[in-house]
Amino acid sequence: MKISFTVTILSLLFSSTVADEGRLLRTQRRIADYEGAMANANNVTFKFDPSTTALVVIDPQNDFLSENGVAWGVVGESVVENNVVDNIEYLFQAAANNDFLTFISPHHYFPHDHKWEFEGELEKVMHGLGMFDRAGPLNLTGFEGSGADWLDQYKPYIVGAENVIVTNPHKVYGPETNDLVLQLRKRKMDSVILAGMSANLCVEAHMRALTEQGFEVFVAADATAGGKTPELGDGFAAALINYKFISSGVYNTSEVVAMMKQTDTDEALVVDKTGGF
Ligand SMILES: *[C@@H]1O[C@H](CO)[C@@H](O)[C@H](O)[C@H]1NC(C)=O
Ligand SMILES: *[C@@H]1O[C@H](CO)[C@@H](O)[C@H](O)[C@H]1NC(C)=O
Ligand SMILES: *[C@@H]1O[C@H](CO)[C@@H](O)[C@H](O)[C@H]1NC(C)=O
Repeated sequence: MKISFTVTILSLLFSSTVADEGRLLRTQRRIADYEGAMANANNVTFKFDPSTTALVVIDPQNDFLSENGVAWGVVGESVVENNVVDNIEYLFQAAANNDFLTFISPHHYFPHDHKWEFEGELEKVMHGLGMFDRAGPLNLTGFEGSGADWLDQYKPYIVGAENVIVTNPHKVYGPETNDLVLQLRKRKMDSVILAGMSANLCVEAHMRALTEQGFEVFVAADATAGGKTPELGDGFAAALINYKFISSGVYNTSEVVAMMKQTDTDEALVVDKTGGF
């Protein structure tokens, strides 16, 4: 009785050990496959085709990017850390010099938007600060140099630029409420490089929406930044994880600029992403 009980226990233990070993081997194989795939993913061979790839810049406006902007206290640290102001300029410049279309999806609020009956947590903050406020949809009184206006250093790339399309304003975070997707499709764009503000709100919302609309989406991660507060956490860190999970590629600005400079006749660029995002 005692012996057979022991044998039963031993055989149970043994068979569960064999099963565990099988599981372990399968897990190790999966990890090896994953690591192999990630090693290859670190060497990306790429170039962007200007006839189908657009630069999409979200909210390149004073309230986010100027030290005098109303959101600077929340986003300033991350903007400086990532060198976002200059990185966005490098991208505007690279697009202009290498025949890429640039689509700007801005954020504007009009007096009627302040009559909304409810908002999300950060919408309340934005409305409370008067962020991106304009006198009216057809009224530019007080617009020049306001928080809703472009950063001065970007104006030479935007105002009167042939390669730039400014879409209608988005209203919460995503492009569901403006004509960005329509404008991209009307120019036969199927891929986008995202840059702008802010990382875990409008940029992430654009990444998700454009992905769902069947665009191939890349992110210039250090051309975005996020809010950072003790209560809410680090918006950029949150966004970067989702960029990596969801987009077709997360690059830094110098990688993106290098890939934009590759012309039709050039070899695709081998980007070793080991030191990048
Ligand atoms: C990545 O590219 C570099 C330079 O071209 C090469 O030396 C390295 O072996 C490549 N690594 C992988 C995993 O393909
Ligand atoms: C434009 O906005 C300004 C400032 O709010 C206001 O004084 C002016 O009456 C508005 N103009 C029109 C045409 O609505
Ligand atoms: C961008 O990524 C590359 C790796 O492709 C890295 O060598 C470079 O230091 C990064 N630049 C910045 C400014 O982070």
